[in-house]
Amino acid sequence: MSHTVDAPRRGASSDVLGSGKVWQPKDGLLLEVDDLYVEFRTREGVAEAINGVSFELRSGETLAILGESGSGKSVTAQAVMGILDSPPGFVSGGEIRYCGENMLTMSEEHRRQIRGPEISMVFQDALSSLNPVFTVGWQIGEMFRKHRGMNKSDAQEQAIKLMERVQIPGARQRVKAYPHQFSGGMRQRIMIAMAIALDPAVLIADEPTTALDVTVQAQIMDLLKELQDERKMGLILITHDLGVVADVADRIAVMYAGRIVEHADVYDLYANPAHPYSKGLLDSIPRLDQKGQELAAIGGLPPNLMRIPAGCAFNPRCSYAVDVCRVDPPPALREVGHHRRSACHFSELLLTHSPELEVTQPPDEVEAAVAHGGAVPEPSNSELGTGPGPGSDGREGTNA
Ligand SMILES: Nc1ncnc2c1ncn2[C@@H]1O[C@H](COP(=O)(O)OP(=O)(O)OP(=O)(O)O)[C@@H](O)[C@H]1O
Ligand code: SF4
Ligand SMILES: [Mg+2]
Repeated sequence: MSHTVDAPRRGASSDVLGSGKVWQPKDGLLLEVDDLYVEFRTREGVAEAINGVSFELRSGETLAILGESGSGKSVTAQAVMGILDSPPGFVSGGEIRYCGENMLTMSEEHRRQIRGPEISMVFQDALSSLNPVFTVGWQIGEMFRKHRGMNKSDAQEQAIKLMERVQIPGARQRVKAYPHQFSGGMRQRIMIAMAIALDPAVLIADEPTTALDVTVQAQIMDLLKELQDERKMGLILITHDLGVVADVADRIAVMYAGRIVEHADVYDLYANPAHPYSKGLLDSIPRLDQKGQELAAIGGLPPNLMRIPAGCAFNPRCSYAVDVCRVDPPPALREVGHHRRSACHFSELLLTHSPELEVTQPPDEVEAAVAHGGAVPEPSNSELGTGPGPGSDGREGTNA
């Protein structure tokens, strides 16, 4: 297998537009998303899609962004790439820094220098992302023609090398084939080839395996991991499936209603989640270390982002919700242990499996309430204590 795609090294690849700008990470820090807010201003109202998201990405690191549908994973990626559907989408606050510079305020020329050559993206649906009327070789080669000024035959040679690198059998014979002549898994490999063509420092893969069967999913994940190791890329892996990223990610950011609710090393989160939502996601996937245990789904549905519940956005579905969760402002993401942050008033109790943390609304109750079109039942006063505010719920207040 050829591993010799002629990709220039970091720094040299950065000046593709000839503006003299060279992007170099400081101490390996590539990307910083800092208190990002995104909203969609539609006729029906304003959807608060991203509400204060912050994270960092270093060279060679894999961050998984996990959450149910509508939690804001793709919008986060689109904001980073600068490809938000705008209008109606607007960044209403925060910074996105690449190599220390805020991409939201830099010139469009510098932004173009980053999008593609520095940060590139693999989308979920390869078929609609590839152009059906051009051969795959032409589409991969375009990266080299457009950004590196290569002639047609050199660009095609590079395309063949990349197709070989992403393990497409018979690459030289198939370079002139069209997207529909490939299987779903092979098309996703072609998308990956295009995304890595310019040797980006950051690769964002948005649900790269969702449409594929389980075996092909695993192969694509292995390929992404291999490429990352080889090229020392920072990888952001977006998924709603915790099982898919367990072996690949270093860290996980769990998103709910446009916020990161837990941020932890992957092993720590698996072993002992600090947020009830992460725990709910974990409890709903089969695990080898908990054989025979019944799987529990999270009751209810994520909120409409035009009407995010007051207090902690997860409170209508949370097994442990009490009055303070409905009354106090949303809990901030705060340190709750080594390398881990969580946005729940009661993370410490959850982490220590404290008996003080009582189940107030089991998932089936939540489900039943939603099925009957009514609100989730309010817990009784004896469960809540007597008044709002930390400590009034009969637990040790750990409010941030
Ligand atoms: N083009 C748009 N117009 C209006 N609202 C939008 C648009 N794109 C996203 N949104 C809003 O942002 C929310 C988050 O969308 P996003 O695509 O980030 O979800 P996601 O977490 O990627 O979900 P999925 O797992 O289904 O891909 C949506 O629920 C919607 O309210
Ligand atoms: S703050 Fe309350 S509602 Fe939110 S996750 Fe924690 S216990 Fe559940
Ligand atoms: Mg998405």
